[in-house]
Amino acid sequence: MVFALSYNVMCRTVFGDRHGGGAGVYHGRRNWFREVMAETQAIVAEFCAADFFPGWDWIDSTTGHRARLERNFVVVNGIYERVIEEHLRRGKEEDDGDRREEDLVDVLLRSHGEAGDGGFPASMDYVKGIMADMLFGGTDTTSATIIWTMTELMKNPRVMAKLKQELEDVIGNKSKVEETDLEQLQYLKLVIKEALRLHPPSPLLIPRETLEPCKIEGYDIPAKTLVFINASAIARDPKTWKNHNEFCPERFDLVGVDSKGQDCNYVPFGVGRRSCPGADFGAVVMELVLANLLYCFAWCLPDGMMPRDVDMEGARGLTMHKKVPLCLIAKSKSLCNYSLHPSNF
Ligand code: HEM
Repeated sequence: MVFALSYNVMCRTVFGDRHGGGAGVYHGRRNWFREVMAETQAIVAEFCAADFFPGWDWIDSTTGHRARLERNFVVVNGIYERVIEEHLRRGKEEDDGDRREEDLVDVLLRSHGEAGDGGFPASMDYVKGIMADMLFGGTDTTSATIIWTMTELMKNPRVMAKLKQELEDVIGNKSKVEETDLEQLQYLKLVIKEALRLHPPSPLLIPRETLEPCKIEGYDIPAKTLVFINASAIARDPKTWKNHNEFCPERFDLVGVDSKGQDCNYVPFGVGRRSCPGADFGAVVMELVLANLLYCFAWCLPDGMMPRDVDMEGARGLTMHKKVPLCLIAKSKSLCNYSLHPSNF
């Protein structure tokens, strides 16, 4: 459910509708594009010999990795081309009639061929690249973080109760939380920050390569070395974080830690020039979804299940999802109380 929601948000932003327009529905299969995304992510996460042994890329041909990659490229490229064609056609049709609201593809196509703010025209490959960045960078990361946050909240009734109280105080009698309310939900921001500390969706960030030789802690690192940054280990380092495995959002209230790559002890969005360009957008989506889920419903564990029974293992993959899916029951707000009784922990 949460993945579908994040995916719909991204599709609306990029393509202008929930299912990715012409890309989403293919031969009557609505989930087709989601399947393509899942396949792309599986391939990127798969072992690729050429990444580790340059010049040995023939190994990838023998394992079938290369063929799978090329097949996937043809499909994904075809999707982007259909979306672009559809937007160009609709643009022409609308020239004389009512104009609909612009989406990201419209904006990118408008800058195609003319020098944009950055001073260079956007090529078609650039337009396709931005679409890919938004869909692949934004969907899995936000949905995984929303699910991990809900998981931690179910395991920590004290935090859940405090957050629900904040929502009641700020939102009052409104039927739903709106974007303009988010600024006041300060505890929610801390809760998400803490969930990102314990469960960064990209635990190893994006691999880097050294440009020149350097020395780190006495070790000589030659140029062109592949470097992985273990963001997950950094965020749980007991030398930096007191009670490092404990879910305690208040810790960020005591020490102001920047999450946008300025503080090297906490890098869920990466660090440096390669850091996440979608961090602010992702934060708004996560805050809005979580605030509404928690404000509009009371969430309970299935009958007989205690918070301590909730599985916390991460699955393998490019983005770290929960290994065992989180299954919760949504009830009317008055029917579930978050008891702080010790037997619940
Ligand atoms: C919970 C939300 C998100 C998290 C935790 C997250 C995390 C990350 C991380 C760790 C990186 C790698 C940075 C590095 O290696 O230094 C990254 C890169 C990236 N993210 Fe995000 N991200 C999130 C949401 C988004 C959203 C919503 C978008 C797009 C709308 C997005 C687009 C990208 C792109 C395009 C890159 C690649 C940047 C590059 O290689 O130059 N991300 N993200």
